[in-house]
Amino acid sequence: MSVNKEVKRVTTSTLLEMKRNGEKIAMLTAYDFSMAAVVEAAGIDVILVGDSASNVMAGHETTLPITLDQMIYHASSVVRAAKKALVVVDLPFGSYQGNSKEALNSSIRIMKESGAHAVKMEGGTEIVESITRILAAGIPVMGHLGLTPQSIYKFGTYTVRAKEEAEANKLKTDALALQEAGCFGVVLEKIPAKLAQEVTESLAIPTIGIGAGGKCDGQVLVIHDMLGLNKGFKPRFLRQYLNLFEEMSGAVKNYIADVKSKDFPGEKEQY
Ligand code: KIV
Repeated sequence: MSVNKEVKRVTTSTLLEMKRNGEKIAMLTAYDFSMAAVVEAAGIDVILVGDSASNVMAGHETTLPITLDQMIYHASSVVRAAKKALVVVDLPFGSYQGNSKEALNSSIRIMKESGAHAVKMEGGTEIVESITRILAAGIPVMGHLGLTPQSIYKFGTYTVRAKEEAEANKLKTDALALQEAGCFGVVLEKIPAKLAQEVTESLAIPTIGIGAGGKCDGQVLVIHDMLGLNKGFKPRFLRQYLNLFEEMSGAVKNYIADVKSKDFPGEKEQY
């Protein structure tokens, strides 16, 4: 974390404090310097360099193809704009599932090469050994339960998870295991609001929901989705704050028309 005396950085302890005080945590994704500068200036608490970059930045159908090198590139760009926000980076698919040493090495690369402040990984009890090892190296870890997009081919759909009792019970066990292992927070993705509330109330660490209702300690959205850049993606949980795709394509159309009509550049736009 940079030693900037003017700006007090959000830390994992700040987030714990926010939960204790009942102050909601606002988290958004960003993958590049310019977008990170926008969310930082607006006062976001946490920036997630999500592996959703695989979808929204690279155009892949799933999060599986993005590589560790690519995540480090995105993260280092975001870190340069984040003066106050805590920057959390997803460990991408294939960079931690092999064994705990691989998980540790990938986390160290993210921290060392991007300057980020924490890593996030999908899974419950099965990744506790890796979490313990990463934490032992001094790297904060955030968990991610419920819909875990890196396992899409195991589950086959992106629909709501843990609606059945057995899966809900497993999720509760996993959440406690993540807390016990030392995670500073856990993302709950696309699970029933009542279950998310139960988990939130049972944990001392903050829960950050996406499609998990209003009782989580914080909320996260993919920036492209909430700004309306991801055309046609309108799941029930998403609140779209802008229609940026239309706004931007309108501006581009105007530019094209101005070039074609020789209106641009004008007298005052040249030397
Ligand atoms: O990759 C991502 O953007 C995420 C959020 C959806 C939580 O993991």
